[in-house]
Amino acid sequence: VASLQGKNFMNIDELTDVELRDLLSLSAQLKKAYSSPSPPVLPRPCEGKSVSMIFQKRSTRTRVSTETGMALLGGHALFLGPQDVQLGVNESMRDTANVLSRFNSLLLARVFAHTDVQLLAKHSSVPVINALSDLYHPLQALADLLTLEEHFGKGSLQGKVLTWVGDGNNVLHDLAMGAARLGMHVRVACPVGYEPNGEIMHRVEWHAQRSGGSYVMERDPMTAAAGAHVIVTDTWVSMGQEEEYERRMRDFEGFQVTRRMMEQGAKGSNAGRPACVFLHCLPRHPEEVTDEVFYDPARSLVFPEAENRMWTVMAVMLSLVGGEGKRV
Ligand code: CP
Ligand code: NVA
Repeated sequence: VASLQGKNFMNIDELTDVELRDLLSLSAQLKKAYSSPSPPVLPRPCEGKSVSMIFQKRSTRTRVSTETGMALLGGHALFLGPQDVQLGVNESMRDTANVLSRFNSLLLARVFAHTDVQLLAKHSSVPVINALSDLYHPLQALADLLTLEEHFGKGSLQGKVLTWVGDGNNVLHDLAMGAARLGMHVRVACPVGYEPNGEIMHRVEWHAQRSGGSYVMERDPMTAAAGAHVIVTDTWVSMGQEEEYERRMRDFEGFQVTRRMMEQGAKGSNAGRPACVFLHCLPRHPEEVTDEVFYDPARSLVFPEAENRMWTVMAVMLSLVGGEGKRV
């Protein structure tokens, strides 16, 4: 297993192909080891290690999965919300990074501007994990890819179609990057004015060309959904965009994921599993996906996807501190 020791985890683009695949394998290994009904003694490869988790925005999954995952690995996680640290208010990113990295083995940060997490990484002497910025959400992409590998089979994402319907946002950027690297055909349908970042999507295209995948922008969500194996969406109003709520509700009309849209996807099933599934990183709002799709017991993978946030962040933390799962 390749180690990420000494590196940062900023986005999927910065990983090598081997690192991406190894992180997915290690996540699956950890899931198996730590969820077995009666493991003899759970390994504690992060004993004596700690992670400071800096959150400038709200979180349920990222916070709880990291805190619980680090505890399972034998280490300690500290939650530092916007009210808890001096960061941004009374102390610079540079000084905060310098001080925290003297206490902790890892830093994890959820920020507004991506440059903030980059600044933290620049001045930290320990690895930094990006726990969501305005540009990226790499922890989410790993969990999504693990969920798809569990559904379709490890190594079988090559050639499958992943369709994103909705806002061209942070979650899309890393998911598209990861999917393209694994040889998937990525299709994106966004309303005009809500397209993903052009530079990032150039990188997605580049990865797709190398892997035999592809990337296309479609305007019509129904066209984008035709033959898709995976249909994904996210909130139309990301954290920090609350003031745009009304405008976005109008602009995203027609982009709700519905049963009719899911029915455009790939038909049939493989070994009893539906050929077209639904993903959403959560938190979810009814405007972007109907209850019928979101709670569909066969097609919706949203809750296993949420659970996989823990196994994947455990793999990231372990790889960054150099544990590599050798003792798992
Ligand atoms: N998907 C995700 O990152 O959820 P939280 O905002 O609850 O962490
Ligand atoms: N795009 C969303 C993801 C939340 C996990 C946001 O940035 O708020």
